Amino acid sequence: AQVELDGYPHFMLKEIFEQPETVRNAMRGRLDHDQATAVFGGLNLNAQQLRAVDRMVLTACGTSWHAGLVGEYMLEAFARVPVEVEYASELRYRNPPLSSNTLLFAITQSGETIDTLAAMREVKRKGHPVLSICNVVGSTIARESDGGIYLHAGPEIGVASTKAFTSQCVVFALLALYFGRLRHLSYEAGLRVIDELQALPELVEEALTTNGQVRKIAAKYSGCDNFLYLGRQYNFPAALEGALKLKEISYIHAEGYPAAEMKHGPIALVDENTPSVFIVPRGGVYEKVLANMEEIKARGGPVIAIVNSGDNEAAEIADDVIHVPAVADFAQPIITAVPLQLLAYHIAVLRGCDVDKPRNLAKSVTVE
Ligand code: G6P
Repeated sequence: AQVELDGYPHFMLKEIFEQPETVRNAMRGRLDHDQATAVFGGLNLNAQQLRAVDRMVLTACGTSWHAGLVGEYMLEAFARVPVEVEYASELRYRNPPLSSNTLLFAITQSGETIDTLAAMREVKRKGHPVLSICNVVGSTIARESDGGIYLHAGPEIGVASTKAFTSQCVVFALLALYFGRLRHLSYEAGLRVIDELQALPELVEEALTTNGQVRKIAAKYSGCDNFLYLGRQYNFPAALEGALKLKEISYIHAEGYPAAEMKHGPIALVDENTPSVFIVPRGGVYEKVLANMEEIKARGGPVIAIVNSGDNEAAEIADDVIHVPAVADFAQPIITAVPLQLLAYHIAVLRGCDVDKPRNLAKSVTVE
């Protein structure tokens, strides 16, 4: 069936606004309150095999790779299992030593990205179980993996991935909960994660109310040709993804960096025409990121800050603020993704770019 715009000017905006629903769909039927864990219908590995996993490799391209980075942080925090995230295009030609209990996850919206497929085949050939996290049902990667988890996000038409990213993050939270509960995570901690996950659709809805504010900020900065995106911990991959969105659809040069690491290079780029987008919700490293923000201000760089509602401290330092609801650290990338997607979208529209079909890019890259 033809996918309609439903009154939205672009598929990208429509897909951004679908996220309360797609986030809900990613966890539908997968939360088990009695056992304080997650359940999956299609992993096709038994509990003994899953408990034996001593290392995970996550492989993907583009936005899916960023979701993998978020997943790495979640899996390490909840399940204490060593995780590596590899670009599929690199993994496929390397010969990484993999222990016999290494589990591979291929992360892909389309299920057709050639490098991800090739990396998966290579690891599978060596006898390791491979699972996929995929949106398109029946796609090549979904079929060739031993088992997997579908996003159930519905068709994503905009070339720049939006709703698939937040769904992938939700699936990783579920996986982290599941593997955590097989190992070290207590019943209470598991229940807490479930509560935090269930609150997300409404909080994503709330994050969407920043749209008007974000559009104004976009208008103020749409003439800039360089942007920095900075965040720490869970918000470092969020920064990478924010920068990628801007690059993809507005053709503006944007770099995502761990907020403190910017002292080792990117800070040299800071001037009055180079805005820094700080992703700085309250949490473990909040004060540290504020200090990083001060450093940018001291060098004359404009600061746009994504902060929690009611946060005046960050607002005092930043030139412009976007307020999003507070959530547990692990869920922050799911909430902060929303204004980051909107910021890229509005800047691209203001610059007259074709947001749904940016130049030189393809929805799924099926050539090497
Ligand atoms: C292309 C798309 C991106 C996407 C990437 C990986 O570059 O433009 O939006 O993130 O491929 O695609 P996949 O379908 O494997 O997630």
